[in-house]
Amino acid sequence: MYITHMRDRIIVANWKMEPARRSAVVALALGTVEAANNLKRTAVVICPPFVHIAETARALERSAILLGAQDVFWESRGAHTGEVSPAMIAEYGAKYVIIGHSERRALGENDEAVNLKTRTALSAGLRPILCIGESVRDEQGEYASFVRAQLECALVEVSKQKAGQLIIAYEPIWAVGEKAVMAAHPAIVREMGIFIRRVLVDLFGRTTGEHIPILYGGSVDAKNAASYVNDARMNGLLVGRISLSMAKFKKVAQSVDTA
Ligand code: PGA
Repeated sequence: MYITHMRDRIIVANWKMEPARRSAVVALALGTVEAANNLKRTAVVICPPFVHIAETARALERSAILLGAQDVFWESRGAHTGEVSPAMIAEYGAKYVIIGHSERRALGENDEAVNLKTRTALSAGLRPILCIGESVRDEQGEYASFVRAQLECALVEVSKQKAGQLIIAYEPIWAVGEKAVMAAHPAIVREMGIFIRRVLVDLFGRTTGEHIPILYGGSVDAKNAASYVNDARMNGLLVGRISLSMAKFKKVAQSVDTA
């Protein structure tokens, strides 16, 4: 399965609300270019904060690194204070957009908004990186129906043809960010990957559902990165913190590439 440009693995670098200073943007972008230099089969997408998107785009010109955004709005223009349209993002060369990240859902973004954003992004030619994941794992297995419902709601009225552009990021909330309890065990991620794939096949049929990349995100580091690709059979990773440290990012990228 090629995800992009003959590459079958992908790492999405979610910078979140970093770097704090504009003066650090170019160094971080160029550091990522350097860190990704030797990758053979792994594509890298940087998702900077909106205010840094122009500067990041300029720094990435002539590099193989791809650009994305961390969010998008569903209207194309008008009186929507604080929002940014898909076309605005695309104008800077961004081809990807994270949608429904758990940190946004925690601020009140609901399934309906995630669905609108996903559909609008797809219509504008952006590839959504749709984030799903449970906040707790209960022994009754409710988390599985929760994840199924999240996917089904996010993908209401998404056509089979457009679904081919989707990327899914499985991010169990308990494993994401500084407050993470721990990274998810690859065996758990593998099981969820199979489950998510089954839901995608139910929704879009075998040909499409089997080719939608599924990524893992949450407390990835150089030690566990390869096992999410090898043991958990993920098509790549969505990383937060380590995308800000070039030494760590380089190790993770290399181990995904050679896993
Ligand atoms: P983290 O964030 O790598 O810092 O846990 C992951 C994410 O936001 O997807």
